[in-house]
Amino acid sequence: MKFVVTGSLGNISKPLAERLVAAGHTVTVVSSNAKKIAQIQALGARPAIGSVEDVEFLTKTFSGAHAVYTMVPPHFGAADWKKYIAGIGANYAAAIQASGVKNVVNLSSMGAHMAEGCGPVSGLFFVEKALNALEGVNVKHLRPGFFYPNFLGNAGMAKHMGIIGGNYGEGASLVLVHPNDIAEVAAEELQKLTFEGKSIRYIVSDEKTTDEVAAILGKAIGKPELPWVNFKDEDTLAGLLQAGIPEEIAKNYTEMGRAMRSGEMDSDYLKNKPAVFGKTKFEAFAPVFAAVYAQA
Ligand SMILES: NC(=O)c1ccc[n+]([C@@H]2O[C@H](COP(=O)([O-])OP(=O)(O)OC[C@H]3O[C@@H](n4cnc5c(N)ncnc54)[C@H](OP(=O)(O)O)[C@@H]3O)[C@@H](O)[C@H]2O)c1
Repeated sequence: MKFVVTGSLGNISKPLAERLVAAGHTVTVVSSNAKKIAQIQALGARPAIGSVEDVEFLTKTFSGAHAVYTMVPPHFGAADWKKYIAGIGANYAAAIQASGVKNVVNLSSMGAHMAEGCGPVSGLFFVEKALNALEGVNVKHLRPGFFYPNFLGNAGMAKHMGIIGGNYGEGASLVLVHPNDIAEVAAEELQKLTFEGKSIRYIVSDEKTTDEVAAILGKAIGKPELPWVNFKDEDTLAGLLQAGIPEEIAKNYTEMGRAMRSGEMDSDYLKNKPAVFGKTKFEAFAPVFAAVYAQA
């Protein structure tokens, strides 16, 4: 079959493209960077170089595909991040309609039932909405939890301040996922193509409390007592700004942490929890964290 994978050689798109190529499919990988051509070809895939901001490019690239995998790349330069994300969703919807593609596996997120108050994930609410409005197109929205690699952003804090933390709430239980487990599900959905109409699938690899996260990562870096510190929203915002994150992005991340803390972000997940979790447990990520910590 012919598939288009957006998201270049990113966390999910690379292992997804690898799986699809290994299964003998024709895979086009979308990247905005011509320097990635050789790496994409080395995977056995075809590069399509252009931007998800360009509907004409997307339409051309999607034409003739049995199915496309859509995702919205992070854009730290966005003046209004939610609006930017929603706009990319509108681009995808327009290109899918114009190209006649009938099957879409869309990377969304846990919390995408929240039209507001969930940071970038509230942008994904509008991406889902735009795709759901497409008549005669089957769409499977993947709603994963919090990616393991997000914790790599805490490696410097662990090294230089001897703590790890966030504004997710006292004793919060985090819904966590390894990108490979998302790629596994995306590859399965794309190849089976048994979904009809519009539907949602939650993806989780592990659930850990914030204290368990600190203990597992702390052990891996030789600091078994590494404490998880519960930050106030204003401290989270200040910390992100200090780390050089643009204000619009920092505000959105802080808002998402608040939605995690209130329980609103995982409320729909808890009602629709998958029976089977992904196979990569959080402990398997600890050495990756330790390697980044060593360089921090
Ligand atoms: N982090 C989380 O906890 C979480 C949870 C749930 C859902 N999500 C979703 O997951 C997404 C990230 O997925 P990921 O980690 O697999 O991606 P990723 O590793 O961030 O990679 C995305 C790739 O997209 C490409 N890209 C950037 N701008 C582009 C443009 N304008 N046009 C075309 N391609 C562009 C870039 O590669 P090139 O330089 O080669 O173009 C980039 O490496 C988030 O944006 C969010 O929607 C995240």
